[in-house]
Amino acid sequence: MQVITTVREMMSMHEGWSATPGLGFVPTMGYLHEGHLSLVRQARQENKVLAASIFVNPTQFGPHEDLATYPRDVPRDLQLLEEAGVDLVFLPNTEDIYPPGYVTYVEPTGPLMNEGEGASRPGHFRGVATIVLKLFQIVRPTLAYFGQKDAQQVAVISHMVRDLNLPVQIRVLPTIREADGLAMSSRNAYLKGADRKAAGVLYRALQAGRAAFDTYPGGNVERAIQAMTETVQAEPLAHLDYAQIRDPESFLPKETLTAPALLLIAARVGPARLIDNFLLRADGSWDTGVLAV
Ligand code: PAJ
Repeated sequence: MQVITTVREMMSMHEGWSATPGLGFVPTMGYLHEGHLSLVRQARQENKVLAASIFVNPTQFGPHEDLATYPRDVPRDLQLLEEAGVDLVFLPNTEDIYPPGYVTYVEPTGPLMNEGEGASRPGHFRGVATIVLKLFQIVRPTLAYFGQKDAQQVAVISHMVRDLNLPVQIRVLPTIREADGLAMSSRNAYLKGADRKAAGVLYRALQAGRAAFDTYPGGNVERAIQAMTETVQAEPLAHLDYAQIRDPESFLPKETLTAPALLLIAARVGPARLIDNFLLRADGSWDTGVLAV
């Protein structure tokens, strides 16, 4: 496995690859867990050459967010990526990605920016779109892999690829969960003791929302949102940010319990802000993620 730490060196790799389509790419912020590794393993099977990146992107963190304390363990990450068969890791430093005088950003617009995480984390998706476009330009993958865990991020990136005619295909893979349903996340490292136990409430709230779809098909979304909200409110250690049912592409509110739909939860548990979702696809099948064994 080759570890590349500069933009210049990464960009100079392309001559060799242009003759071999089939470069897969898994961008991450590191502190890897089974969710990240599920993307890497699938990508390993589908590509001739596999690249991953580790970069804690400052522009997607708000001024009062956890950039400084975001968990990091690069040596462990590199070992896990090597074991998973990654050929190449891009591990740049911040000054190389955002040198002095850096002024250009990608600004997604519409409900994607103004709803859900866009509303709760102003500027977040501007930072995500900017770094993902930069990484695509630097790495130039054929296929890039993202987790359904971050549903709105998937929507932002899919729109960007379409809107800006980017020559890359996006693959989205299911959310990997702990045994109690908690979606794996690097930020779960913040959860200790009772908070960790309480964090399972997000998954239970999504299950309650899904049950409302089965009980009142075609009905008003308010019932499902109420079921999700009440489930979170029953857990005193959890503080609900939002419970929503949205169109998976536009993120506009849904009015009826019909496919396609995205059930979204964001809540704070102790020091961690957690997000999770279930996806009801257009064909009526659910993507509720995968419980790790
Ligand atoms: P990060 O949070 O490190 O996640 C990297 C990728 O792993 C994302 O596509 C995310 O959706 C996916 N992922 C995280 N937890 C997952 C889980 N439990 N199951 C399946 N996939 C999971 O997302 C980012 O980094 C950044 O925003 C990034 C895209 C790298 C841009 O900075």
